[in-house]
Amino acid sequence: CHIEQWDSDDPVPRSELLKKVAGIQGLYCLLSETIDSEVLDAAGPSLRVVSTMSVGYDHVSLEELKRRGIRLGYTPDVLTEAAAELTVALLLATSRRLLEAVDEAKSGGWGSWKPLWMCGYGLTGSTVGILGLGRIGKAVATRLKPFGVKKFLYTNSAPRPEMAAAIPAEFVPLEELARCSDFIIVCCALTPRTKGICNSRMFSQMKDTAIFINTSRGGVVNQDDLHQALASGHIAAAGLDVTMPEPLPTDHPLFKLKNCVILPHIASATWSTRNAMAVLAANNLLAGLRGDAMEKEVFL
Ligand code: DGY
Repeated sequence: CHIEQWDSDDPVPRSELLKKVAGIQGLYCLLSETIDSEVLDAAGPSLRVVSTMSVGYDHVSLEELKRRGIRLGYTPDVLTEAAAELTVALLLATSRRLLEAVDEAKSGGWGSWKPLWMCGYGLTGSTVGILGLGRIGKAVATRLKPFGVKKFLYTNSAPRPEMAAAIPAEFVPLEELARCSDFIIVCCALTPRTKGICNSRMFSQMKDTAIFINTSRGGVVNQDDLHQALASGHIAAAGLDVTMPEPLPTDHPLFKLKNCVILPHIASATWSTRNAMAVLAANNLLAGLRGDAMEKEVFL
């Protein structure tokens, strides 16, 4: 292959992308690039395959790809373990107030031992609700089980009995998940159905002791509603690995809240996982160019 590569960890500027895609047959992209009709038009009719180094493909216009007969590769499975591990880490950091506690220890806020100081919420005996039980949701639940969780609930567009049986987890409507969970963990893909699904309605149904965790996509959450729920104490805390936009501006009101832990989209960031994603995305692209079956393809 002749390869045009944007050789930087920073996203390729849009103008550069639009210029460089002209006449290509395959496009290897990241979740930071929006692959829409503008890019596809700029590439022209030679483009046959898009391969994204991500499990999420909400940055790719599926309709446009389908319309033009362009195939799409993605990278599920290889990041499941890393994403689940980070989700658990974020949940514990949020529920046990780790960042606040570290700040207090460093800044002189650590006085004598006090019975109620820095208390948070534990997993033992809790109910955990998973919004979007798929590969990552299941892996999160499996990791949380040994912490003594009493009950797992989940909600999806439809029940997934085989996936749920291994945990086990009970399928409930979103309202019930919100009402009954001590921890809500968002693991669903961003789709027109899930866009903004975590909104004031959902937050108002949650317990005021509940913890909200999102490691899927920022667009699933109405951030103004989340801010309101956190600032008013309507829910206890939130841990976010994903936001809208990314990066979240440093002066965003969510950064001002002590009960909101924000990470810069690092769920899959282990050396081995990112390498596996990179290789899988490259192999998907090559298979697509050869006209072979891809290891992981989104069938449009
Ligand atoms: C993905 O792959 O979609 C994650 O968000 C980043 O690894």
